[in-house]
Amino acid sequence: MHIFTTAAELRAYAEANRRAGRRLGLVPTMGALHAGHLQLVQAAAAECDEVIASIFVNPTQFNNPDDLRLYPRLPEQDTALLAGAGCAALFMPGVAEIYPQPTVLRFDFGPLERVMEGAHRPGHFNGVATVVSKLFHLARPHRAYFGQKDFQQVAIVRQLIADLSFDLELVVAPTVREADGLAMSSRNRRLSPEARAVAPVLYQVLQAAAQQVRQGVAPTEVQTNAYTELQQSAEFNTEYFEVADAQTLQPLAHYEAGRPVVLCVAAHLDGVRLIDNVVV
Ligand code: PAJ
Repeated sequence: MHIFTTAAELRAYAEANRRAGRRLGLVPTMGALHAGHLQLVQAAAAECDEVIASIFVNPTQFNNPDDLRLYPRLPEQDTALLAGAGCAALFMPGVAEIYPQPTVLRFDFGPLERVMEGAHRPGHFNGVATVVSKLFHLARPHRAYFGQKDFQQVAIVRQLIADLSFDLELVVAPTVREADGLAMSSRNRRLSPEARAVAPVLYQVLQAAAQQVRQGVAPTEVQTNAYTELQQSAEFNTEYFEVADAQTLQPLAHYEAGRPVVLCVAAHLDGVRLIDNVVV
């Protein structure tokens, strides 16, 4: 596996492979890799000639300095996992390589980012869109792989690709979960054993809410029930629980036939911010 730390190396690699007619798959990550990330790499390896993965803890998408400081960094372990999953090239740049100067351009995704993660993490999607655009330009992939775990991020990246005419296909993979239902996340490593034991409640509440949506329980009632259930586990500090249109991400007042619904939750547990979602 090639390991690149400079933008120039990655550009040259992408250019050479494109000229040779090879199809490139890109898997952007922030590292501390788990089976959710590796699933994306494996899907890319099955569908593309070369898989490029990136590991970059992108400072511009963190609105909380402690979250950035405490974000797990495991480069050696990650490198071994990527090589084993069929990754051909790993891009692991430093901050100065990606941001030789502060960016001035600001993204505004309108209603898509005025809800949920966008509303609760000011500047987050500007940082995501900035780094994802840079990675698309440097790696020039035919396909880019993202996880449903970050449902709103997928919607933002889809809009980014459309608005800026990136010539690539967005591939979305389902959320990979632990045996007890907890969505895999790099941040799960920071949970104490006690917090880890109650963390699956998040998915249980989502599943119960999904069942209510299927039964036609009104969106606001589903939301209230979920808040109440989460409050019963004193460990959770719920940031939001939304019943939203899966395409526009706007909160629903009532259901519309044939339009998928997404349930999204963000909660703090043991000082760790967890998010999860289910599409109904
Ligand atoms: P990160 O959180 O490392 O996630 C990298 C990719 O893995 C994202 O597309 C994410 O949705 C996916 N992923 C994470 N956990 C998953 C799980 N349990 N199941 C399926 N997919 C999962 O998301 C980011 O990094 C960053 O915002 C990034 C896109 C790299 C831009 O900095």
